[in-house]
Amino acid sequence: TKTITILGIESSCDDTAAAIVRVGSEATVLSSVVKGQNDLHADFGGVVPEIAARAHAERVDLCVEAALAETGLALTDLDGIAVTSGPGLIGGVLSGVMCAKGIAAATGLPIVGVNHLAGHALTPRLTDNVTFPYLMLLVSGGHCQFLIAEGPDRFRRIGGTIDDAPGEAFDKTARLLGLPQPGGPHVEKSAANGDPKRFKLPRPLLDRPGCDMSFSGLKTALLRARDAVVDEKGGLTVQDRADLAAAFQASVTDILVEKTRRALLEYRELNPVNSVFAIAGGVAANGPIRAALMDLCAKLETEFTAPPMALCTDNAAMIAYAGAERLMNGDVDDMTFKARPRWPL
Ligand code: KG4
Ligand code: ZN
Repeated sequence: TKTITILGIESSCDDTAAAIVRVGSEATVLSSVVKGQNDLHADFGGVVPEIAARAHAERVDLCVEAALAETGLALTDLDGIAVTSGPGLIGGVLSGVMCAKGIAAATGLPIVGVNHLAGHALTPRLTDNVTFPYLMLLVSGGHCQFLIAEGPDRFRRIGGTIDDAPGEAFDKTARLLGLPQPGGPHVEKSAANGDPKRFKLPRPLLDRPGCDMSFSGLKTALLRARDAVVDEKGGLTVQDRADLAAAFQASVTDILVEKTRRALLEYRELNPVNSVFAIAGGVAANGPIRAALMDLCAKLETEFTAPPMALCTDNAAMIAYAGAERLMNGDVDDMTFKARPRWPL
């Protein structure tokens, strides 16, 4: 097989990232640089698009330089460039696309505009050489969907959230409990010392057929549970906070496990031979959620795979890899491709 070395660039949300990946009979991440922006958005309780766009514009070149420097390679050693061209916050996506097009124009290297979601969805192939087809749960701050990956450009969506993404719900929960952003890891840590049964939270949509999910109702229920125990100053004891966090995490886990069970059964009807389930996205970094899904897969005799944490959250190695898959199929973009705020798979 031919081996190609490719630069990836990612700037669609609040991480600026660049990576060099080599793809032949297997794939190797030669370098992966991620510069986060949590400090810049901390005072605002969420990602501020204008601040994010400026930071990406300032940092994207530096990330590319750092990714190259780590490998000792020069631009002339590369075979192509891949860049996230959507979906995401348009200012950030534009910064990445302009940078990538500039390098392509200067070097003559082929360029590929990659769908950020395809990057997440193809990560099991980068990390574990998983073959098509496989069932994928993409679960992050902005997304939650079940996809059957049938090819580098072929994804069948069989369900997903009808409102918030679970990562967003984790972040809102952290805010309600007075924990820092991004909330997922803090809620997980607090929940580890909590009793998930003390507060009763709902499991929305669990009684309905299909693989669609809903998480927005949890927030209201959690707010009500919290208000029943806060003191006059709105303060929570460490134990109350832990019990609320545990109740929330248990509810999200139950929803994800039951809907994954249904998605797996549906997937296996379509693909009786190859039974592989993969998760990716920031929420896939959650220990108890990961363990519960692994457990489910063991019961259903399905192979389970999850990328290492650093490749679950946003990164450019997944973009480089997704670009390499297309490049190897001779599928290249011309310079006219656009940055797209919305771009369903
Ligand atoms: O994939 P990601 O880095 O960005 C996108 O949304 O594309 O995911 C970030 C989200 C945040 O909402 C964060 O709170 C959540 O993933 N997250 C977690 C954990 N680590 C990150 N949620 C639950 N438990 C975690 N350990
Ligand atoms: Zn993402």
